[in-house]
Amino acid sequence: MYNFTGKSFLKLLDFTPEEINLLLDLSEDLKEKKKKGIPHRLCEGKNIALIFEKASTRTRCAFEVAAWDLGMHPVYIEPSTSQMGKKESIADTARVLGRMFDGIEYRGFSQSVVEEIARYAKVPVWNGLTDEFHPTQVLADLLTVKEHFGTLSGKKLVYMGDARFNMGNSLMVGCAKTGMKFTAAAPKKYFPNKALVAECEKCAAETGGEISFTEDPLEAVKGADVICTDVWVSMGEPNSVWEERIRELAPYRVTSELMSAAGDDCHFMHCLPAFHDLNTEIGKKIGERFGIDCMEVTDEVFESERSMVFDEAENRMHTIKAVMAATLSEKNL
Ligand code: CP
Ligand code: NVA
Repeated sequence: MYNFTGKSFLKLLDFTPEEINLLLDLSEDLKEKKKKGIPHRLCEGKNIALIFEKASTRTRCAFEVAAWDLGMHPVYIEPSTSQMGKKESIADTARVLGRMFDGIEYRGFSQSVVEEIARYAKVPVWNGLTDEFHPTQVLADLLTVKEHFGTLSGKKLVYMGDARFNMGNSLMVGCAKTGMKFTAAAPKKYFPNKALVAECEKCAAETGGEISFTEDPLEAVKGADVICTDVWVSMGEPNSVWEERIRELAPYRVTSELMSAAGDDCHFMHCLPAFHDLNTEIGKKIGERFGIDCMEVTDEVFESERSMVFDEAENRMHTIKAVMAATLSEKNL
């Protein structure tokens, strides 16, 4: 029996494989209740703070909807209109919010900030994305793979592109923890840092998972069950890197040819937002500047039957709900 009460959710590395599986089971249970209209107000009357130092559609909405479903009141804090970091330190802000709220979500830049909030707030803190990790996203991704294939263990997930940022790092950890085979395909400079790789390899050795890297996209996708990618330039990175990223990562774009090379039941995943067409301000600008009509994934793959991106997006809500319920509820769930 595991008790998550009072625990923060800062990165998947902090959780055992059993704990991650329990959170997935709880997500499935809460998803079923939601679909059947069965009330699950497990955190009635609690209040939570949502701090976003970067933009968000999915994560913010997932936290807000999940909070209401659990009987809680979410308060969105817009950093530009709060004192945080400007007139008041992170530690002081965390101590103030911890006196008023039962839990705090934080999305920002450095992982050290969310860790510092958790150290001072004395209430559960949930990482809504940092440059280093995006653990609530990967929990949703794991749920999506499990729902589709019925199991995680032994499934091969290939990550194409910048594997040293939040999504590459977190998917590698998620696969290692659940006995999946993780392969990243990119030029070497985009591989995750060696210390994190070593930690994941150690974990994979215990769960039966595998971690590998290659610069060859076709070699990478052999036997893949899921091909995953993310934007080539993440939030907070300077515009000056676009040219280099497009040049270096274009061979790793997820195309129909790549999906075919992987096999018939290989599916496509992306945390979103995705540059799969020119129907966005940035997509249009970059597309015109570099003469391309998509970036990390073609529109054909994104819109295909193999794409699970909207299942993933929905699962953000169910998994975030599970994380909040498990860490806030007074009883074992
Ligand atoms: N995938 C994800 O975190 O999306 P948002 O940036 O919209 O929250
Ligand atoms: N790597 C992306 C993920 C967005 C959900 C970013 O940090 O912008």
